[in-house]
Amino acid sequence: MYSKNWAKADAKSLPVIKTELPGPKSREYHQRASRYMKGYSSQVRLFPVVFHSGKGCTLTDVDGNVFIDFSSGIYVTGLGHCHPKVSEAVAHYAKQLMNCHDFTTEIKMKLLEKLASITMGDLKGIQLYDSGTTAVEAGLRAARAATGKFEFISFWRDFHGKTMGAVSCAIVDRSQGMRAPGFFLAPRPYCYRCPFNMKYPECNTYCADFVDKVITNETTGQVAAIVLEPIQGWAGSIIPPDEFIPKLRKIADKHKALLFADEVLTCMARTGKMFAMEHWNTTPDITTVGKGFGNGFPVTAMIISEKFGEAIEKISASSSYGGNPMACAAALASIEVIEEENLCERAAHLGELFLKRMEKMKEEFRIVGDVRGKGCLLAIELVRDKNTKEPFEEAGRKVYQRAFSKGLAWVPAGHILRLSPPMIMDDDLAHKGLDIIEESIAEVERELLG
Ligand SMILES: Cc1ncc(COP(=O)(O)O)c(C=O)c1O
Repeated sequence: MYSKNWAKADAKSLPVIKTELPGPKSREYHQRASRYMKGYSSQVRLFPVVFHSGKGCTLTDVDGNVFIDFSSGIYVTGLGHCHPKVSEAVAHYAKQLMNCHDFTTEIKMKLLEKLASITMGDLKGIQLYDSGTTAVEAGLRAARAATGKFEFISFWRDFHGKTMGAVSCAIVDRSQGMRAPGFFLAPRPYCYRCPFNMKYPECNTYCADFVDKVITNETTGQVAAIVLEPIQGWAGSIIPPDEFIPKLRKIADKHKALLFADEVLTCMARTGKMFAMEHWNTTPDITTVGKGFGNGFPVTAMIISEKFGEAIEKISASSSYGGNPMACAAALASIEVIEEENLCERAAHLGELFLKRMEKMKEEFRIVGDVRGKGCLLAIELVRDKNTKEPFEEAGRKVYQRAFSKGLAWVPAGHILRLSPPMIMDDDLAHKGLDIIEESIAEVERELLG
């Protein structure tokens, strides 16, 4: 059963708005915290609500208002907030053993066996970490160790985290000018705004062939890995055409480089498959998991093909927190819930429900330029004009704030609105949240375009 009673939420009585939003306590607490905390995300800056608790698909703020959650934190709590199986697993080890460096524990052994049983192909060499970024960084080190090469290809608008190697795989505004030598970026398919001004399928996925040209013309031929998000999350749920990833596999093989799929955001059923790469039946050499892996507990992994096991023995996996017993318990419980509650199927079903409603919004509204998604990873792109496709950032900001003030917690990205509902959401609640989005777009469109 995907939806157990613990998460039952009555769509008819949600959301619950008791104060103006953000409420008085939220405003006070956020102001006090902001005195010291610097660099908030736009998600918070645009709507500084202060949450008190979460249960299933709802979040309650410090003023007692209850929100429908279309954000899962930030693509994290796919099983809903505080899934009892995960919370109990963490609480158990919080009392029994919190940390013992990288010694094997029984719960770690069980997690490793479970994880190895669900990965694609021969991805069985595992290192455990405590953030997506550190897992990505480990993947970069592993690619260098496995190939003896040092260069990397990544893609426009991909996001891989905030340490030196990870930001080096990102475009300038995400890398904050800190790209290390040896990192090269290639354009990536974004069919709504093709970087080559071509049209799919007549383009014959030229963007994939272009990666080959980047390797030949820009690198010194020492490419350790091609690094990519299978579906771009931060950039706005941008799904590549079906040929792109299988073609990349061939290009990587041709250059004796590894294919590194960063699945920190797309893993653990969010796209309707345990791993997004399964959609294209393409096994990478390296992958990373995070976010939904521990459903809120910080636990991540770098996983590499076992044929490189020996080469990466040199890459020490130990860290202060990676693979601690609470983390392993959270991850094991989360995978078990995904299996027990058939959440891959559930995510795929929700994806269809969302897309159907979003397609209608695209027909109905002048400012909805594109809608897209796979499973519970979705986006609505707002434009000033459907012909020019000019990004409509003001509308993006206003629709985000308007819907939030009506009780919907979700995620903005400039003119793109990102939706990542928990996979346990029932249909009625999904429709209720989508009603709020529809209403908010209608109001903002009238306000801005008349
Ligand atoms: C694809 C991808 N990789 C890596 C990261 C970094 O993960 P973390 O924020 O846990 O360090 C993110 C975070 O959003 C991500 O989306």
